[in-house]
Amino acid sequence: MTSILQCPVCRQPLVRTASGYQCAAMHTFDAARQGYVNLLLAHKKHSKEPGDDPAMIQSRRRFLDLGYYNPLSDTINATIGTALSGLVSGSSLSLLDAGCGEGFYLQCLKAALAQGSQAHLPIDYHGVDVSKFAVRQATQRDRSMAWFVASINDLPFLDSSLDLLLSVFAPVNIPEFARILKPTGRLVFVSPGPKHLNGLREIIYPVTREHEESTITAKAKELFAPATVARSNYQLELQSRQEVMDLLAMTPYYWNIDQPTKAKVAALDHLGLDVDVEVRVFTKK
Ligand SMILES: C[S@@+](CC[C@H](N)C(=O)[O-])C[C@H]1O[C@@H](n2cnc3c(N)ncnc32)[C@H](O)[C@@H]1O
Ligand SMILES: [Zn+2]
Repeated sequence: MTSILQCPVCRQPLVRTASGYQCAAMHTFDAARQGYVNLLLAHKKHSKEPGDDPAMIQSRRRFLDLGYYNPLSDTINATIGTALSGLVSGSSLSLLDAGCGEGFYLQCLKAALAQGSQAHLPIDYHGVDVSKFAVRQATQRDRSMAWFVASINDLPFLDSSLDLLLSVFAPVNIPEFARILKPTGRLVFVSPGPKHLNGLREIIYPVTREHEESTITAKAKELFAPATVARSNYQLELQSRQEVMDLLAMTPYYWNIDQPTKAKVAALDHLGLDVDVEVRVFTKK
């Protein structure tokens, strides 16, 4: 099988070895005990432990496993199913979740595609996150997928090698995404809609502000054309302090709010709120 991975040092293809990956120039990257491979070069790290920390990852894992975001994941999966059905592929499809966190969305996607019209197609699943804690947790979800510690700013894939790139609430690098997608490739970008987390936001900001509209379409316009937008909009009732705090820890508010506001949220043992998320598909120009 030809490799689609790229050596982060010399940019040549990386091939699988018994212990991990290697390129023709003999740069080697061993798999960690847990099964993932670290392709983030030490001098490209901007901090000692970049990305989400273990507490944030644990919160995300606990919260997502409660199923509150399953309807959102269903919308993402249906969108991807439709996007893939438009791709006439030779033999197999290669998918990447860039900024995959602890792997929830990729695991759900794999389960959904195994039931759909793509069930007969071999699909290679890849997940990348800059946080090694996140990738460790993701590996636990499904060891048959390829999980890497790497940055969206230097993705370890060859040019024009992927059929679809998924980005869920994660940072983007449009030129890098365009580089690794095939000409027929699709970018699926998932971001908060106007009412997302209303209910929590009213507590945090006494005067609730509308979410700013996503700027992705404008940012991507040189390299990507918008194709479709789907919206996942429903209400949740959180049932405990743990659930409320876990959700808070998944949001940027966790870092931005002051201590008294955090204490106010921490005292809530029940919370009703909106989920409002947009799932955009882009084609390459
Ligand atoms: C808000 S979380 C979303 C995670 C996951 N997609 C989800 O929705 O559950 C953002 C993720 O982006 C990761 N991240 C931040 N900067 C990154 C970068 N430069 N490259 C790759 N991942 C990055 C963080 O470690 C974190 O896991
Ligand atoms: Zn190399």
